[in-house]
Amino acid sequence: MAEPVTGTATARSYSNIAFIKYWGNRDDALRLPANGSISMNLDGLETVTTVRFRPDLRADSLTLNGQPQQGEPLERASRHLDHIRRLAGYETRAGVVSRNNFPTGTGIASSASAFSALTLAACAALGLNPDEPTLTRLARRGSGSASRSVPGGFVEWYAGADDRSSYAESIASPDHWALVDLVAIVSHEHKTVGSTGGHAIAPTSPLQPARVADTPRRLDQCRTAIRERDFDALADVVEQDALMMHGVMMSSRPSLVYWQPPTLALILSTQAWRAQGTPVCFTIDAGPNVHLITTVDEGERVARAVEQVDGVKAVLAATPGGPAHLLDEHLAAE
Ligand code: PMV
Repeated sequence: MAEPVTGTATARSYSNIAFIKYWGNRDDALRLPANGSISMNLDGLETVTTVRFRPDLRADSLTLNGQPQQGEPLERASRHLDHIRRLAGYETRAGVVSRNNFPTGTGIASSASAFSALTLAACAALGLNPDEPTLTRLARRGSGSASRSVPGGFVEWYAGADDRSSYAESIASPDHWALVDLVAIVSHEHKTVGSTGGHAIAPTSPLQPARVADTPRRLDQCRTAIRERDFDALADVVEQDALMMHGVMMSSRPSLVYWQPPTLALILSTQAWRAQGTPVCFTIDAGPNVHLITTVDEGERVARAVEQVDGVKAVLAATPGGPAHLLDEHLAAE
């Protein structure tokens, strides 16, 4: 082991919304996914994280949105830092200060932007300078979807066959397609089963093997739809993919039903609006909130309509976001 090290770095990373979902692991420890996935980074829905390695610290610490963390959140961050420390050959502990700019408790997945920012900041603070595919593989170990928040714009994470081949890369830049994700918040409650627990029980659904086997077709359709900016083809595959994942969730043991009544109301409204000619489609992660994907041109009008749906508490809007990047200014140590 090298001498204790001092180093500080700060990174910003955006959350992402998957068009083709990651659900289930082939290898839990390495977080090798059962299937490949494609997502869009969400500009403005971001995490900023400062990592300070300090020889005088006896343990890692984590402050999230001003609140010191203990238990699982801290242990998970610490395990992730251990992996990066091992690569760098240091044992020095770190103080981590992190802020999400999206309202907490809105059910917006923060693990993607959180582990992407943590990975980049920790590597930089230790003087590691991994190339982008390596950074995505490191972020993947913290949270699968975090691998997709490292590159910019529209991103594909390849399932791969092992640690080396399971990485993410950009398939189109943020300015390639003026889409917007309108996040309809229907619940502020924390989910009872998070994605880590959900991935673990995915194999208990008899539908999971069929979903996984069909993934190359959905990835092809999604990749081509993005490349050609073909909204109808995108809408068709994004909705089918989300419903396939929720079919697996609902038919797992124990059964995971994330939907609430407004979730279904938004699904039906979205399909009716599209049938009337509006380019809009829905997707849903491991929670009740609904992401409506539409064009920037239609964004305002669709957002007004979404606000009218019973049970919608707020609507956030995000256009395609850029890659994770380092910042010169650090968050105050707390
Ligand atoms: O990266 P995780 O473990 O939080 O899993 C993400 C799971 C989904 O959000 C439901 C799908 C996805 O691909 O983002």
